[in-house]
Amino acid sequence: MKNHPLSRFPAMRMRRLRRTDWSRRLIRETVLSPDDLIWALILKDGDGVREPVEAMPGVCRLSPDEALKAAQEAKALGLPALALFPHTDAEGRTPEGDAALDPDNLMCRTARAIKDAVPEIGLMADVALDPYTDHGHDGLVREGEIVNDETVDVLVRQSVNQARAGFDIIAPSDMMDGRVGAIRAGLDAEGFDHVQIMAYAAKYASAFYGPYREAIGAAGVLKGDKRTYQMDPSNAEEALREVALDLAEGADSVMVKPGMAYLDIVRRVKDAFGAPTFAFQVSGEYAMIKAAAANGWIDGERAMMESLLAFKRAGADGVITYFAPDAARRLGA
Ligand code: PBG
Repeated sequence: MKNHPLSRFPAMRMRRLRRTDWSRRLIRETVLSPDDLIWALILKDGDGVREPVEAMPGVCRLSPDEALKAAQEAKALGLPALALFPHTDAEGRTPEGDAALDPDNLMCRTARAIKDAVPEIGLMADVALDPYTDHGHDGLVREGEIVNDETVDVLVRQSVNQARAGFDIIAPSDMMDGRVGAIRAGLDAEGFDHVQIMAYAAKYASAFYGPYREAIGAAGVLKGDKRTYQMDPSNAEEALREVALDLAEGADSVMVKPGMAYLDIVRRVKDAFGAPTFAFQVSGEYAMIKAAAANGWIDGERAMMESLLAFKRAGADGVITYFAPDAARRLGA
């Protein structure tokens, strides 16, 4: 930014450019489009199920047939992709999270149904064991420790299972070391070299995941916390090292999570690497906006659009968000 010689009041008046709508439109630096949004969807077993998630007003757990309708809606709204997350009840959970490897699990059945009917929609799969374990951790637990290397072996098999079902983007959210490289090799060995990896590269141990854990049935289940694998919210340099490693291991794109409280990380990651960079506007961020709007304390629609725009202004190429269809409608798609 140069210091213009005339850039002094009263010759220079910043309000001049803001006076009219046409002028504000002309000088607008950041524009949001449905192309920027990945719709986060929660799945639940059954048929014709639309079960509201209490802590996320407007979000329902959807059975595969309802998720298919959502995919058709996404297509009509111009949304490029869906990110799927499975709810599992207590009976479906085991110490090792066996359901993650079942080719007929909820995720795989839903992916096949969507890919059959709406193949032009991108499908992203979360890779981690927490929807399937009876302790709610993302990895395997041995003597109270979440073990790394043994978990990575399972995550590779989970990823291949998802790729076989038709998922286009494998998105490891577990924060184990070395999992991106191992998953890349595992996918390639099975002929899935065209399947992308979006690494949850800088994922923080955050309070903002609360509503999600209720949504997937992990809320009462999680023993302890995830601070031995997810990042300390105090750290930013460490996020850059995480991103560097994931890119070196073969990640096609990287993600910062949560979103709004971590926009400084989004900006630094984008500036440092120039790689496709995504932010996850997580469940707690969604819930905060919805709750304040329900109380009449903020204009929920405007807060939604402003929050999504902020991600783009910070350098994100796209946002994973539960607001995707509402925002796309508002954008007039
Ligand atoms: C699990 C996972 C989480 C989210 C996505 N994948 C929660 C967690 O790490 O505990 C959070 C999503 C959200 O809050 O919207 N690996």
